Amino acid sequence: MSVVTRPAGLADVPGVVAFWAVAGENDDRPVDSEAAVGRLVERDPDALLLALDDDVLVGTVVAGWDGWRAHLYRLAVLPQRRGEGIAGMLLDAAEDRLVGLGAGRLDAMVLDGNELGQAVWRARGFTRQQRWGRWVKPVVG
Ligand SMILES: CC(C)(COP(=O)(O)OP(=O)(O)OC[C@H]1O[C@@H](n2cnc3c(N)ncnc32)[C@H](O)[C@@H]1OP(=O)(O)O)[C@@H](O)C(=O)NCCC(=O)NCCS
Repeated sequence: MSVVTRPAGLADVPGVVAFWAVAGENDDRPVDSEAAVGRLVERDPDALLLALDDDVLVGTVVAGWDGWRAHLYRLAVLPQRRGEGIAGMLLDAAEDRLVGLGAGRLDAMVLDGNELGQAVWRARGFTRQQRWGRWVKPVVG
């Protein structure tokens, strides 16, 4: 496999947003915008990790670090490239970054019905917290 990982730059943002529309877990979440993803890349240029095969985008993950907690978002692999270990490669890169920054724990949000997503996190050593739920409040951003 000739897949490599690297952080996204601003020029990658439109392609990433288009990629998520076909490859991401898109239920029950706000629609992504190029402006929002661009803000992420500007604020933390190493957070959005891409997997590329010959410059073709085949996977993504956001390895977010706020100085205190580490969160993984937007793990997605091109449908026709799944099962090749690309998510594993992205999660290796994400984990390296976050551990290097001092993270003591990684977390990820997974939809209840997303069996495949849950299988990946489980395979990577994540366990579901039973006693915590997420509380959200939409605000104008
Ligand atoms: C979930 C997703 C990112 C997995 O990507 P992938 O590149 O196919 O995953 P990998 O090939 O790296 O597999 C990693 C591990 O996950 C598990 N796994 C992967 N595909 C699986 C499948 N079809 N069934 C069961 N387990 C599976 C395996 O344990 C695998 O490790 P192994 O091959 O060493 O056994 C991909 O299916 C995807 O983009 N899904 C849509 C978006 C999504 O749901 N993302 C997760 C949000 S929480």
